[in-house]
Amino acid sequence: MRITVAGIGYVGLVTAVCLADLDHEVTCVDLNKSKIDMLQTGRSPIYEPDLEHLLEKNISYGRLFFTTNPKTAYKEADLIFITVGTPANKDGTVDLRYITVVAETIAQQITNDVIICTKSTVPVGTNEKIKQIIDNLKAGPFITTVISNPEFLREGSAVFDFFYGDRIVIGSDNPEASETMEKLYAPLHIPVIKTDIRSAEMIKYASNAFLATKISFINEIAAICEKLDANIDEVAVGIGSDKRIGNHFLRAGIGYGGSCFPKDTKALAQLAGNVQHSFELLDAVIKVNNRQQSLPIKKAKEVIPSLAGKKVSVLGLAFKPGTDDIRESASLKIMKELLQEKALITAYDPVAVPNMQKELGNNLSYTNDICEALWKSELAIISTEWEQIKQFPLSLYVKYMKDPVIIDGRNCYSMDEVKKHSIHYISIGRPTHI
Ligand code: UGA
Repeated sequence: MRITVAGIGYVGLVTAVCLADLDHEVTCVDLNKSKIDMLQTGRSPIYEPDLEHLLEKNISYGRLFFTTNPKTAYKEADLIFITVGTPANKDGTVDLRYITVVAETIAQQITNDVIICTKSTVPVGTNEKIKQIIDNLKAGPFITTVISNPEFLREGSAVFDFFYGDRIVIGSDNPEASETMEKLYAPLHIPVIKTDIRSAEMIKYASNAFLATKISFINEIAAICEKLDANIDEVAVGIGSDKRIGNHFLRAGIGYGGSCFPKDTKALAQLAGNVQHSFELLDAVIKVNNRQQSLPIKKAKEVIPSLAGKKVSVLGLAFKPGTDDIRESASLKIMKELLQEKALITAYDPVAVPNMQKELGNNLSYTNDICEALWKSELAIISTEWEQIKQFPLSLYVKYMKDPVIIDGRNCYSMDEVKKHSIHYISIGRPTHI
């Protein structure tokens, strides 16, 4: 099957590389020339485990191609994946401008019957609009089928998730096209759930909103645990071992970030509002998350009322471990607040420093060495649970910092370990140790 993937962001690139690895001929199209040039040389513009290796392999096997030319990309394609970004507008609604442009371009360039499969996260009803655009503009009597095939890849384990995902959702009103999609994914042996198009679109938003709800729920319980001297880690194990609850996504911390949960929760709340339903539970989830991201500075100021001129180490810049993505990361908010307080920041991350530098410039110091970050600092804020941070001995905080105050926003250290050291240690939903 000749496959084209339109929009080579994180979803598009992972999808394209993995489909090529299943022995399909895949052409990737993107308007960003420097990105395409880089990919042609086998280098990935994003940090994602295993991706670069598969990229190089499939280019060398002659089944993965990159172009900026829509004509080359869409001509004679049997299946086109739409994987362009759907960023948020200022009011939380979804900006569908890239979806519209790509649908128009596809319509102008297709030369045969084609299945168009949307992987981008789009509001319910969008695939119908895509079909309308294509049918209105297409240059010949080609049969175009539009399918919703949302993705559930996690950054940092996207390649693994492609090959070993929990389910594949195919939303379609054309049984033949669904069957083609099922065959495409058959080698993965992942359960397929077939639905109508609108339900598939909703599954994506509802999944992310539910996961975000779990996180805000556990963070609320953590807040109460702190007041009542209970330990959220133990509470999470206790409730998570009930199969109906499940033990995933119950890690308390300084909130969820990334390019998906914050955007998708707001979009679903908006979508509900559009049909006169006030999604109060989701509104609360979003509110709790905003509060969580502000917790480190609030907790810091309870111990050090003025942070002006104080040296502060921020450990972890990525929104989660395993990625260099800093979009909506808790550390971004923390560092903006610290800059306002006129603190002197040294920020550590094993891979995300260049991205943070682009975002915040050189108003602070950066390092990829934890010891250097901690040197003579008075406050350390842990914002990402990188393995390098979890494995970093607490004794070295004592050695390098001045009277260490640690705000552990990701509960990286066990309380048993903490108690062995003479540090002021504050975490989320667990007793403070002084
Ligand atoms: C999320 C979903 O997990 C994917 O299924 C989905 O495909 C993707 O969004 C998307 O819509 O594209 P991702 O944003 O990569 O994936 O990251 P997650 O691993 O879900 O983590 C999101 C945030 O939640 C991170 O900031 C993480 O630190 C936080 N989190 C996660 C917690 O605070 N506690 C937890 O227990 C779990």
